[in-house]
Amino acid sequence: MIEDIEKYLEEVRQFQTADGEELEKFRIRFAGKKGILNELFARFKQVPKEDKPRYGKLLNELKKAVEDKVRSLREELARASARAGSGEDLTKPGYPYPLGARHPLSITKNRIIDIFKRIGFNVSEGPEIEDDWHNFTALNLPEYHPARDMQDTFFIRRNPDWLLRTHTSSVQIRYMEKHKPPIRTISPGRVYRNEDISTRSHIQFHQIEGLYVDEGVSFADLKHTILFFTKELFGKSKIRFRPSYFPFTEPSAEVDVYWGLKTEHDYRITKGTGWLEIMGAGMVDPNVLENMQIDSQKYTGFAFGLGIERIAMLLFGIPDIRMYYENDLRLLEQFKSVL
Ligand code: DAH
Repeated sequence: MIEDIEKYLEEVRQFQTADGEELEKFRIRFAGKKGILNELFARFKQVPKEDKPRYGKLLNELKKAVEDKVRSLREELARASARAGSGEDLTKPGYPYPLGARHPLSITKNRIIDIFKRIGFNVSEGPEIEDDWHNFTALNLPEYHPARDMQDTFFIRRNPDWLLRTHTSSVQIRYMEKHKPPIRTISPGRVYRNEDISTRSHIQFHQIEGLYVDEGVSFADLKHTILFFTKELFGKSKIRFRPSYFPFTEPSAEVDVYWGLKTEHDYRITKGTGWLEIMGAGMVDPNVLENMQIDSQKYTGFAFGLGIERIAMLLFGIPDIRMYYENDLRLLEQFKSVL
């Protein structure tokens, strides 16, 4: 009986086929319900006692040899049919993989963030649905303050205290609620205003807010920070600060960058002056610091806010703000190679 197993073992080891049906026959013959393996296992009882260990060992070896053989031949068959199966010319070049592109607003936002990160600013965010306190009151814009009309607000009807934030300055407040000076943070995000839609304005757009609060922060720090920024982003190193008014800063300024008048395009976008307004800025009003329980005798700060759409228009020559939101692939695909 032991010789029988050895014979089978040899047979199994020698067995080869490239034919699925033949392999299945082989499997059934050995491993089927009434197959050789089951029969040999059934015979175990009749094996003389002294032969049992060797018989058992050989039988297990046979069983394993059958399993291995069936598995490896099946794999080979699958590989062969994959090779032959499709009938495709496998030497043809592949289909091009469709590459996405970043949105010009994201590209611009990321560039601005990178610049401020290099001088120690972190990134913070706040909610787009705000309450009156964070969007207005804490920013030194109490109820009935006329400057509230500077920004036409979408209110949420369910709760008159809720609104869509009109600027990212609200994140200044959220940030100062959680962090004490020294503070150096920039806050990118989407904002909303109830304005007529045109080439230059939209009901939704994006801003980046900057806030720096520490002991001894001065207007000179603000100027130098903005100068660094315009040099890095535009390669332009001439800027000017025009006196302006914002309720949350005192003094306040609007910042212009000197764009130049080299081309007809320069004339058009600067209305012939060479100067372009790029942001609002100023020294954080002491009232705002006190609202946040920050001692305005000890600490001073500067803040600024800029619109990402305007900056991206300058960087990429995009003529109409509406183009950002139309998702026209003819525009978006042009940014595939831009980082
Ligand atoms: N929040 C202003 C706006 O939306 C922009 C701004 C101006 C932000 C001056 C500031 C600032 O932080 O200091 O028009």
